[in-house]
Order: sequence, then structure tokens, then C-alpha cells
Amino acid sequence: MDQLLPPEIDEAARSFASALAACGDLNALMRLKGAYVGREGSHAARMMDLLKAAPKEHKRELGAQINAYKQQWEEALKGRQTDLESAKKAQDALAAGWDPTLPPPVPAAGALHPLNRLMDRLVDVFRPLGFHVEEGPEVETEAHNFDGLNIPDDHPAKASSDTFYLAAHPELLLRTHTSPVQVRTLLRVAPTLAERGGIRFLAPGRVYRKDEIDPTHSPMFHQVEGMLVGHGIGMQHLKGTLEYALRTLFGPHTEIRLRPSYFPFVEPGCEVDVSCPLCGASGCRVCKGSGWVEILGAGLIHPNVLSYAGIDPTVWSGWAFGMGVERMAMMLSQTPDLRLFFENDQRFLKAMGGLD
Ligand code: DAH
Repeated sequence: MDQLLPPEIDEAARSFASALAACGDLNALMRLKGAYVGREGSHAARMMDLLKAAPKEHKRELGAQINAYKQQWEEALKGRQTDLESAKKAQDALAAGWDPTLPPPVPAAGALHPLNRLMDRLVDVFRPLGFHVEEGPEVETEAHNFDGLNIPDDHPAKASSDTFYLAAHPELLLRTHTSPVQVRTLLRVAPTLAERGGIRFLAPGRVYRKDEIDPTHSPMFHQVEGMLVGHGIGMQHLKGTLEYALRTLFGPHTEIRLRPSYFPFVEPGCEVDVSCPLCGASGCRVCKGSGWVEILGAGLIHPNVLSYAGIDPTVWSGWAFGMGVERMAMMLSQTPDLRLFFENDQRFLKAMGGLD
């Protein structure tokens, strides 16, 4: 058998194992690979030339011999390559200062969105006062979103230019405020209101309006609604509660002021300002030098709202408020553009940690 291949090939085959063992790195291995199984000038290439030139009767045997050599070399080269590669990886890791005895890095944990954290904070402020959380659907009926809130048919908010109506169900819409949760909750508790001795709740959630997106507008944003129904409730109760809540939120030196305003579902209605929490009311960019920032709308529940829910307005009274969450978050964090809250850039979200 041996005589079919020239002696230098057998010599090369004999020295292959020690040459392979002598390859200390991948470069040396690639050179050896070239010399043994490379396309040109290698032992394998030479053997193929010999095979082509061999007399027909020898081809079979010679072919088998050549294949056996080639296969043996290729497998051995591959095995050595794997070993050298993993040795190199380990070496690189050590060189890069990687210490395999250190504990693995802690994976980044998920976290609540800054707007959700702010809403949670508001709920936490009111919870000790006996308020719980009520929820309502984001797809609402016209009745809950408008009619039950004493909003007349010709009110501009009802126009399809301001409100998203569902194309297939024109009586349904995306709620334009969290106030319909007032209507739903009052309707539900009306029969047991006396037993309960009244009700007080917050309703945080998403609301929708046909607004163009810009630094202070988004077609989806968040509000927190607050409501209390009891006996003999007046503006003094509203003011006292808001003063307490806003001082808890913004600090004990916070002052509030009520300015008369109009909302169909309250009478009287007002807008509430806080002394600017950023400059201590001395005047800054956020309060535009005035020392005050508007924070919410509020008022005493309109008798029609109570009546709609089947609650006697001569027996019961109460207050309500609604505040914009993005507005408050922007003010607290001095974020100039509301869109940052919805783009979910990790750097922004991490920097918002200070909102808690
Ligand atoms: N729903 C009002 C809005 O979206 C905010 C509001 C004002 C809610 C006065 C109230 C309130 O409950 O009493 O602009």
C-alpha cells in the first residue's frame, strides 16, 4: 500500500502529529493547515495531482489512502483549532481584567414609569384620609363622559373635532377626562350611600383628546380625579383637603389659592394654584415669575350630577377635583417636553428617579 504514495508524503503524515502539537497559537495552526490540506501546494493538493496521474488500476486504492489521510488531518486540525480558540478566549478575558470568581452582574430590573409613580404618590397622600381608588373604562359612553356630568349637548368638548368617537359605535368615545368615573361610582354607590355615610375616592387614569402632539400636548395623557360626598360639605372642606394634600406633596411651606372658574359639573368651580415649589414663590421660569402655578380644577359637585346618579342634592353635597399628571410631572422634574414621558428613552426614565 505504502508504495503508492511517494516517501515524502508518508514522512509528512508521520510528522503531522508532532507538528500539530507544536502549534502554540491559531496563526501557527493556520500555517500548518495550509501546508497539509490547503487548496494549493499542500500535501493534500499534491496527493490529488498524483491521483489524477495514477494508472487506472491504482486509482481506487490510492484514493482510499488519500482520503484516509485527509480526513485524519482535517479532524485533528479542527479539534486543535477549537482548543486553541477557547484557550485564547480565556486569555483575552483575563487580560481584560475579568475575574471568574466574582459574582455575575445583577440584571437590570424593570421599574414603574415615572407617571405611574407620581399617580401612586398622589394615591398614597389621600389614602390616610379614607380615599380609595376607583377605575372606569377608557372607552366610555357619551352618557358617562358628558350627560351625567351636566355637560350640555352644545358644549365644544362634545364636538368630533375634540373627541375621539368610535367609528362603528358613535355613542362610544375615548374618555376625555377621568370625570366619568365620578358618574359610574356615584351610580353604583347611590343605593347604599346612607349606609356608607358618603364616599371618597381617587380615580387615576388615561384620557384622550384630539390634540396635535407638541411639547405640551399629547392625544393621550393622564389625570387624577378626586371626589368626596358627604353631609354639609363646602368649599372650606375642599380647600382644607387640597392644602393638606399639596403640602404633603410639595412641602410644608406650600400655599394654595383658589381662583373662580367654570366647569359644568361643579358649582362654584375654581382653578387651584400652588406657590411655586421650585423657587419658593420668588419667581422663576416654571412659574413665569408669578410665584404661582396652576395645578388643578375643582369645585362643589353640581346638584345635577348628584341627581343624575339618583342622589338627593338636598341631602348630600361634596367636592371634586381633576388634575393633569403630565403637567405636574413636568413641573416637578422641570421637563420641558411632554413627549419625553412617552418615548421611553432609558436615560430619561432613569434620570426621572428623583420624582419619588
Ligand atoms: N375634567 C376637567 C378637565 O378635564 C378637570 C376637572 C375640573 C375635574 C373640575 C373636576 C373638577 O372634578 O371639579 O379639564
